[in-house]
Amino acid sequence: MSSSPIIELIREKLDIIDVVSEYVPSLKRAGRNYKANCPFHNEKTPSFTVNPEKKIFYCFGCNSGGDIFKFVMDIEGLSFPEAARKLAAKAGVEYGDERAHQISPEDRERLDLKKIMRAASDFYQKALFSPAGEKARLYLGERRLNKMTVEKFELGWAPAGGSALMDELKQAGWSSDLALKAGLITEREGGRVADTFRARVMFPIKNQSGETIAFGGRVLDPEGIPKYLNSPETPLFSKRRTLYGLHEALPQVRRTGRLLLLEGYMDVIGAHQHGVDWAVAPLGTNLTLEHSGIVRRYAKDTVVMFDDDRAGIQASVKAAETFMEAGLYVRLASLDGGLDPDEYLNEHGRDAFEAKLAAAADPLDFRMNLFFKNKPTPTAQEKAQAIAVLLETVARQGDEVLKSEWVKNLSTRFGVEQASVLKQLRKTSVALPRETPRKAPAAPAMPQMEKGYIQLLLRDPGLIAQSDALAPEDFCSPLARTLFAALRALPPEALAKAPAALAAQYPEHSALVHELAVADLGPDASGGRDAAGAVRMLKRFSSERRLKELKALPSMDPQQLQEYSRLMLELKSSVKDK
Ligand code: UTP
Ligand code: MN
Repeated sequence: MSSSPIIELIREKLDIIDVVSEYVPSLKRAGRNYKANCPFHNEKTPSFTVNPEKKIFYCFGCNSGGDIFKFVMDIEGLSFPEAARKLAAKAGVEYGDERAHQISPEDRERLDLKKIMRAASDFYQKALFSPAGEKARLYLGERRLNKMTVEKFELGWAPAGGSALMDELKQAGWSSDLALKAGLITEREGGRVADTFRARVMFPIKNQSGETIAFGGRVLDPEGIPKYLNSPETPLFSKRRTLYGLHEALPQVRRTGRLLLLEGYMDVIGAHQHGVDWAVAPLGTNLTLEHSGIVRRYAKDTVVMFDDDRAGIQASVKAAETFMEAGLYVRLASLDGGLDPDEYLNEHGRDAFEAKLAAAADPLDFRMNLFFKNKPTPTAQEKAQAIAVLLETVARQGDEVLKSEWVKNLSTRFGVEQASVLKQLRKTSVALPRETPRKAPAAPAMPQMEKGYIQLLLRDPGLIAQSDALAPEDFCSPLARTLFAALRALPPEALAKAPAALAAQYPEHSALVHELAVADLGPDASGGRDAAGAVRMLKRFSSERRLKELKALPSMDPQQLQEYSRLMLELKSSVKDK
């Protein structure tokens, strides 16, 4: 990373507290430092620290740290020169031409990719207002988008021809390699290349700074497939981390700390046009933990409103749970008449829409409402089944106060004893994180080490108190994970009868549980019969496995890089501890 006189000048002129506070408004003085909840990982007590004298930041929770340049790079996902340019402008320092600075090849490529995306976006916009774009203009008119909105979102038209964009880019001196890498052109059968998007209305997808990093393209023909075609993943674009409309929504989201999640491109655009300018949408994927991590930097309160259909409702509950898991407050709003937010706004206007938002319910109420709408007078069995399912939502709530409030509401609404709801909840809290891949390969046998440790716990469940350093994910056997999580979730009074409790909870594994509980501890089953030692070993194996995984990646994003260096550090210190 370059450290030129200009870089030094920028560093000197800027106050790191100013820069960081822009992204982390909760930053507060604490002695000589400033502290806040870390914007780079999920936490409830602040371990993110900024030192104004040394002009550095560091998080004791996730080990991210560095200077203002590093901070802006990480938080905005920028390369060094981009972050430097941004900070130069803020500091009132002339940054000049990038070529005058040292730039790594990866940074160079990212900059070029952004430029070619810009060129493509300009081309599509021009095409929309050319004679060839007439049908598209008519379509946007039918969708009731006005000219200002079309310009704000830089909508465009990809001509039908097949090589219109490619020809234009070539003329402007861009290489087809770069255009391929940007996903603008695609290799087709027989090695021929052609424009990726043909005869589609184009929706530029931007990063938080407003730079175009990808496109979505919609067919005009209602029968066309796919309805929306999105850019492939590129060095600029990861759909797991991108929210459509975030750049446009940020000023309002920052001001109010609220964010509205809708389902699609048109919903976001329609919302903004109607003045609901805090709306964003994921890009044809589920909301991811990465998305909610980004949202968490700017907002505390979220409202989720998806289309009024079965799929929409299901997806909105899932999205709400993801927000919840990231520690955000979330409410769910619904429309009626089977309308999308965009259609609803056009038909009923902003006030009616905002009334729906105001009536949003928390995830538990939302799900209870749905249930009682379908079954106004449930039988005892239906109630029990419903409660078991609803408790999965309750279990995901990280805020303990809200959680107990929810238990109360649940028992009131269903008319059952709070104590039994609580009991049931304890059984529920073992639900594994949903991130586990759907089609997991056949479960590997439980490694001896893990088996030994679980056995140790079953024999002496009190040892679970010394397992804080471990998470279920640290086990590689899924069964070990499940059993470990279940043991940890047992209330203290149940610990004495842990094997029986587990066997009852997982009848399919009861044989193994009992076998482990009564069998002799093998000579090396527990890695030295010492629980603390076993915990350390398991943790180390887990870190090593994860490191291997990270190393095998073709490239690491900043978060993965951070994780990588944190693991390396941990491993080094665990070797020293030994
Ligand atoms: P919808 O099918 O609900 O589309 O998909 P929509 O937003 O209502 O679109 P309009 O109003 O018909 O124009 C919701 C979102 O899912 C993604 C898009 O992000 C879309 O906005 N999607 C949908 C795709 O990525 N590909 C598809 O083929 C369809
Ligand atoms: Mn729609």
